Amino acid sequence: DIAYLNGEFIKRDQAKVSIEDRGFQFGDSIYEVIKLYDGQLFALERHLHRMLKGINRIDINFNYNLEELKKICKQVIKKNQDYPKSKSGSLYIQITRGAAPRSHEFTSDLEPTIIMYLLPTKKYSQALRKEGAAAITMPDRRWELCSVKSTNLLPNILSKQEAKEKGVIEALFVADNKKITEGSSSNVFIVNEGVVKTHPATDDILNGITRSIILDLDYHDFVVREEKFSLNDLYDADEVFITSTTKEVLGIVEIDDKKINNGRVGPITQKIHQKFKNYLN
Ligand code: PDD
Repeated sequence: DIAYLNGEFIKRDQAKVSIEDRGFQFGDSIYEVIKLYDGQLFALERHLHRMLKGINRIDINFNYNLEELKKICKQVIKKNQDYPKSKSGSLYIQITRGAAPRSHEFTSDLEPTIIMYLLPTKKYSQALRKEGAAAITMPDRRWELCSVKSTNLLPNILSKQEAKEKGVIEALFVADNKKITEGSSSNVFIVNEGVVKTHPATDDILNGITRSIILDLDYHDFVVREEKFSLNDLYDADEVFITSTTKEVLGIVEIDDKKINNGRVGPITQKIHQKFKNYLN
């Protein structure tokens, strides 16, 4: 399959970046994962907006605008037309500050490194969607700018690995004041007496695209709003679900060995997932 690297389309296994790239040495970079449904990039503009905001926030010297980026994204899909990944995989984008002799501080004249290529689909079985998944809670050991989708993911990957070793799907982060922020690679929602809550889009979380679409949709018999909630609220919730580009909406029925909704995916979780799927079409 074909990757994009700094203006060129080349075979993925031939795409190479410098050992002095700051993305490699410092995690000095931003990324996005955009899902393909039937060969179409889902919520492309929302993803690119978030990426450009992040690039701006960490002062990467980047000159492409939204339209130019959109064009490149679509070209990557086109170049890969003959591969199944271009139908139902995801587009991975990473933009680093660029390569320079190693030094923490940076200058504004660096040439950013831009890569794009397709990832295969992560499969979540129908059984898992129906029966729900388990999660653990972990301390949120990240920094003050979680709103930036940076590739500095050590706390995330170590937490996810611990979740995997415990046989569960996700680690849900608990901040110092017992507040739930989000998952290691997902946003978290709870349902309490017909009110659906998720952490407000502050710098304490990544404002997920799936999350933001769910907040934008209209519902008849319940409300979805941004509101902080605690570890106890999570344990006592009527329903819990997580959202991400690859997971869409996934019910969580067990947290730290405590059952949620008697271990069943709840009705509001199912309704929200259905509504999200309708929005896809
Ligand atoms: N992760 N929170 C974090 C920390 C994430 O890494 C992600 C996504 C989300 C959900 O965001 P979205 O709905 O935009 O995918 C929330 C991606 C998929 C990843 O790292 O692979």
